[in-house]
Amino acid sequence: MRVSVVGLGYVGLVTSACLAEQGHDVVGIEVSSARIEALLDGRMPFHEPGLAELVQANREVGRLTFTADPAAISQADVVFVAVGTHDGNGGWQTRTIQSCLNDIVPRLADDAALVVRSTLPPWFLAHLPIIVGRMRQEAGLGEVPVLLNPEFTKEGTAVQDFLEPERVVLGIAHDVDGRGAARLRRLYRGMSAPILEMSATDAALSKLGANLFLATKISFANELAQLCDQYGGNVDQVVAAMAYDHRIGGAFLRAGIGFGGSCLPHQVTMTVATAAESGMPTPLFAAVAEVNHRQRERMIDRLAELLGGSVAGARIALLGVTFKPDTDDLRDAPSIHIATRLIEEGATVVAFDPMTDALERFAALVPGVRVASSVDVALDDADAAALVTEWGVFRQLDWVDAASRMRRAIMVDGRNALSVVELVDAGFAYASFGRGIRGQTDVPATAPLVATVDTGATGAPTSYETLAIDTHATEGSPAERHRSGSSGLDLALTD
Ligand code: UDX
Repeated sequence: MRVSVVGLGYVGLVTSACLAEQGHDVVGIEVSSARIEALLDGRMPFHEPGLAELVQANREVGRLTFTADPAAISQADVVFVAVGTHDGNGGWQTRTIQSCLNDIVPRLADDAALVVRSTLPPWFLAHLPIIVGRMRQEAGLGEVPVLLNPEFTKEGTAVQDFLEPERVVLGIAHDVDGRGAARLRRLYRGMSAPILEMSATDAALSKLGANLFLATKISFANELAQLCDQYGGNVDQVVAAMAYDHRIGGAFLRAGIGFGGSCLPHQVTMTVATAAESGMPTPLFAAVAEVNHRQRERMIDRLAELLGGSVAGARIALLGVTFKPDTDDLRDAPSIHIATRLIEEGATVVAFDPMTDALERFAALVPGVRVASSVDVALDDADAAALVTEWGVFRQLDWVDAASRMRRAIMVDGRNALSVVELVDAGFAYASFGRGIRGQTDVPATAPLVATVDTGATGAPTSYETLAIDTHATEGSPAERHRSGSSGLDLALTD
């Protein structure tokens, strides 16, 4: 089929490349001529594993082209809209999509289907078919079907998520004779996933619901981890046992500094804010946001604890700045809040991330932060290290060497991604979330974490020697491990 995709950001470029890979003729359209030039030049506007290869291969065989000219959509059977709807300040905006519709709706072929893949504010859903219908009418043209096709792809595994989805959701905003839905079903007929057809409102809410649930799971895990710390438990063990109950599962229950990125934080806070505006409180989602914010602060507290009460004057190696591994995305990355707060508290923060471009942008976002050219340089003479993004390169560090570089071997693992045993064996004082504070430190661990556990009620207080679980992290990122199908706790926790 002939497809146009308008907006070549994370969602649109993945959609373009993957549909071309599936054999469709795709034209990617983007208003930014700089982005088009970069793409035509073979440069990717962002890092997404496997995407550059897919773009190149499909351009070479002529199935994927890029242009800044919206007139290109007039040939398309299906036109996807994948433009941004965030206002960059935690809120929604519909200016971009409205101006995009202005450009494309009068150019749509009479038998084309218009498919919105952008995440829309729920209140905009009712307006969408009306706006499109009016534009067609004013242009003296017949009506076109308008559908929603929300994406459920994750950064870092977006290509695989698109090509092998768990479900495809079609939301019908306006499709009187069903030809829009039929066309989309044809477009996706190569996919083995179930295709779920529903109203546009239900489609949008199914995307929102999925993200709210994932965010809730993470905040749940973080509150559970707090209980584990309080009673001297180990959250890895606890979640692994819970995960055997198929009603619960183990995915997305990894404790740490909480969720970031473009989707989860925004959808939680916007849901709370818009519901409150309409007089309908959402206390559960408000708590999810609050717990998530608290985790970032707890990272500072943990560092202060291990440093003897305060981070002031300490040099802290910040390992990772992107909101998760396998992306260069800094949108709502916990690193920004953590580094800013540490600097406010008088620490010197030296950050390193394998994504050098992200590191540069990070330096511009966090006044006073220093960036290092390598992880070794970041660790040199540091009083403590803070693992913020669980990149493979950090998980595989030689910890004996790392300890020898640092002024004090202190590690706060904000992603529960490192091996307690390895770190402690290398001489680190090591804290994570829900796994206590372990190892030698010249400052005492705070009382509730290990010292005052009621061993009668809860069994022996955990110490790293007595942990039955293999806490060695497996190699590579969670996505890599998931893809490789490696078994064990990590897989269960990081799906
Ligand atoms: C998310 C949704 O997963 C995806 O379905 C949707 O289409 C877009 O939003 P993404 O933002 O790419 O995807 O990242 P995701 O893998 O969901 O991780 C979000 C954040 O949660 C990251 O900061 C990650 O580190 C954190 N996280 C994830 C945890 O803190 N604990 C976990 O157990 C899992």
